[in-house]
Amino acid sequence: MDAAIEAHGLVRHFGAVPAVDGIDLYVPRGSVYGFLGPNGSGKTTTIRLLLGLLRPERGSIKLLGGSPHDGACLAQVGAVVEQPAFYPYLSAHENLRLFATLAAMPSAAGSAAADRALGLVDLTSVARRKVDGFSTGMKQRLAVALALLRDPMLVILDEPTNGLDPGGVVEVRSLIGELARSGRTVFLSTHVLTEVEQLCDRVAVLQRGRLVADGLTRELLERGQRLVVAFDSSEQAEQAARVLQAAGLATEATTERENTLLVVPSQLGSSAINCLLADKGLYPAELVVRRASLESVFLELTEGV
Ligand SMILES: Nc1ncnc2c1ncn2[C@@H]1O[C@H](COP(=O)(O)OP(=O)(O)OP(=O)(O)O)[C@@H](O)[C@H]1O
Ligand SMILES: [Mg+2]
Repeated sequence: MDAAIEAHGLVRHFGAVPAVDGIDLYVPRGSVYGFLGPNGSGKTTTIRLLLGLLRPERGSIKLLGGSPHDGACLAQVGAVVEQPAFYPYLSAHENLRLFATLAAMPSAAGSAAADRALGLVDLTSVARRKVDGFSTGMKQRLAVALALLRDPMLVILDEPTNGLDPGGVVEVRSLIGELARSGRTVFLSTHVLTEVEQLCDRVAVLQRGRLVADGLTRELLERGQRLVVAFDSSEQAEQAARVLQAAGLATEATTERENTLLVVPSQLGSSAINCLLADKGLYPAELVVRRASLESVFLELTEGV
């Protein structure tokens, strides 16, 4: 089956700045895909390219097997990129109905779709209020409702929880979970890494227009995982550090209370490390796995690149 998003060799400059500098993306259908990167790394530009709002200088894009310039294909894609403009003197419901009309939906179906979408983002109680009085968070929810108006198979969201209060963040997060459970694909850019850890099965990290990581979130976290080998004798710790380094493991030593801790990458696994040390008569007081947060992996990937 076709991927939800497939892009090859995307390039787009603004003047001399390569905002997107040769990106390949493969987003399987049904996945929740996190798109991360520091400010200015090219996330929004990539999303605008994907949606056909901007033309790439080079590269190709397929959305749900079709072209982003094909109306029938775009009808199955819902997106929030930056703040969409709403008519301030129309109600939330009227605004969505207007978009439904523009999308050539019959009036009754458009009205029902507007009600459904407003329900999904918990705006039913203010559906008939003028958008003029809406807070930033309410407008953000309305933007998400607009993205969901046509019950899309693929939802692309550029920082959907930006500007929301903690309650709104939790709601949008659970909405994304529901979309995924109903078989939809969600492509999501965000700076909130806990959101990605909780929601996204896959993640790509962008840095200066290029991907510096791309894969399963679980694997990315495992890559950042470390083993901490504790010794109560500093002499043993020094010997152990030499053994581990000789085995090709980058070893960092720190002290904590009376213990010396050796921190090593976890690719060998704790039993292999135990064997390696026991072979030389070295017995750690403790050996524990230190899980990585996505934050630490993200910083490692994007700092100083
Ligand atoms: N319309 C534009 N005109 C000129 N330069 C632009 C334009 N849009 C983006 N850029 C530049 O392209 C680069 C990538 O910007 P982009 O908005 O895609 O980053 P981003 O990852 O979405 O950042 P943020 O996290 O701040 O939203 C930046 O250097 C930015 O200044
Ligand atoms: Mg952006």
